[in-house]
Amino acid sequence: MANYILSFDQGTTSSRAIVFNQQGSIVSLAQKEFTQIYPNPGWVEHDANEIWSTQLGVAAEAISKAGLKAEDIAAIGITNQRETTVVWDRRTGAAVCNAIVWQDRRTAAYCDSLNEQGLEEMIREKTGLVIDAYFSATKVKWILETVPNAREDAEAGHLAFGTVDSWLIWNLTGGKVHVTDVTNASRTLLFNIHTLTWDQDLLALFDIPASMLPTVASSSEVVGETSSSLFATRIPIAGIAGDQQAALFGQMCTKPGMVKNTYGTGCFMLMNIGEKPILSKHKLVTTVAWKIKDQVHYALEGSIFIAGAVVQWLRDGLGVISSSAEVEELAKKVSGSDGVYLVPAFAGLGAPHWDQHARGTIVGMTRGTTSAHIAHAALESICYQTMEVLKAMEADAEIAIKELRVDGGATENSLLMQLQADILNARVVKPAITEVTAIGAAYLAGLAVGFWDSLEDIQEQWQVKDSFDANPGTETKHLIQGWHRAVRAAKAWAQD
Ligand code: G3P
Repeated sequence: MANYILSFDQGTTSSRAIVFNQQGSIVSLAQKEFTQIYPNPGWVEHDANEIWSTQLGVAAEAISKAGLKAEDIAAIGITNQRETTVVWDRRTGAAVCNAIVWQDRRTAAYCDSLNEQGLEEMIREKTGLVIDAYFSATKVKWILETVPNAREDAEAGHLAFGTVDSWLIWNLTGGKVHVTDVTNASRTLLFNIHTLTWDQDLLALFDIPASMLPTVASSSEVVGETSSSLFATRIPIAGIAGDQQAALFGQMCTKPGMVKNTYGTGCFMLMNIGEKPILSKHKLVTTVAWKIKDQVHYALEGSIFIAGAVVQWLRDGLGVISSSAEVEELAKKVSGSDGVYLVPAFAGLGAPHWDQHARGTIVGMTRGTTSAHIAHAALESICYQTMEVLKAMEADAEIAIKELRVDGGATENSLLMQLQADILNARVVKPAITEVTAIGAAYLAGLAVGFWDSLEDIQEQWQVKDSFDANPGTETKHLIQGWHRAVRAAKAWAQD
């Protein structure tokens, strides 16, 4: 009996596979980190073959750790780092170059030039996105212009483009299926989120042949089966969603106004906005949350580029802690940051600023400043950035957000969660299931194959583990004003 769902969670730093049972509990988990490639300042690449081999390896490991066989798996759900761009040759299945990762800034100047041409509004209206090197289209264009023969091969119909979900499914199906889903498509800058089709005007603007593109499926349907050479039996691939959308689903933010924030390397906050795409007036992006059967949900999203990574920087760059977990203890040595602000604009600033040129800044130090103050300020910077995105969401959606569902490694840090509640003046809620991204993809796959019957069937699996309420009487107005001044300094540094 196929009593399990296998979820692939292909992230920026590691490939993971998790087996879930019908109760939504984790039966086994396997994870493997892979190489980060930094060929030039601001460039970030992955070896597409390593993405595939690590993902396949952990899938087999998770099945065997659980003591299962392939026939015990009812379906595979795939969730992935979004925007990361792979171009491969359909004839050989080989990637034409390394994958260009979402964090990569090589096309920033080209994006500036598109903004200068006044294309921002047209692109926002069609795609819900801002023009930024973050999204896939300019990465594909760069590959076509730079890799020898790529342009000719693409024009001849030999090359395929895909985000990581497409690449994995191409390989899982032995090159039979070239598909993505609406959520991943909505991160490319090539997809019209109103018609849910590739946009011809944008393909022309970026000079990308339509023949390179995958077909676009919903997030919950059988798109193919694994090739017989991989597992003892063919397993249906039945769910696909970009990792942040999968987390929104895994957090059961299924009604308009519900919000989740994932604390990883960066922070990704998404709000379900229902069945109509509201375009942001406050520099958030509008994205497809999922499509299940014929029902589409949209989300407003704010992406913060550096969150957990600021703690890694305290560890690896400053050397004031030796493991990320130590940051809580160090920050707790002081009751606050004593006027010190750290703006971790190491890679510019994402939402709601979208300033590619801002740089990391520490202000407000005195002779009495210690590493504990810097650590406190680093944690606060995660909370302030989250607050800025949340305020933008409130303004766009015209509602007050009272509850934030949180997930990701940094939610283990209770000081951070309490600071977050105080700075937002809202309740911060942690669910019992820690793997919300993977379970989101599992749910999408399981719904498609009848493993779970309906949303109601899975809704009650979401349970609260911990919650943090704002301390009454915490005076944050003054502190928040200080943050805004510090952000101005981080932006001004690059402007002079
Ligand atoms: O948009 C980028 C995002 O999908 C990356 O997520 O969890 O791999 O850092 P993660």
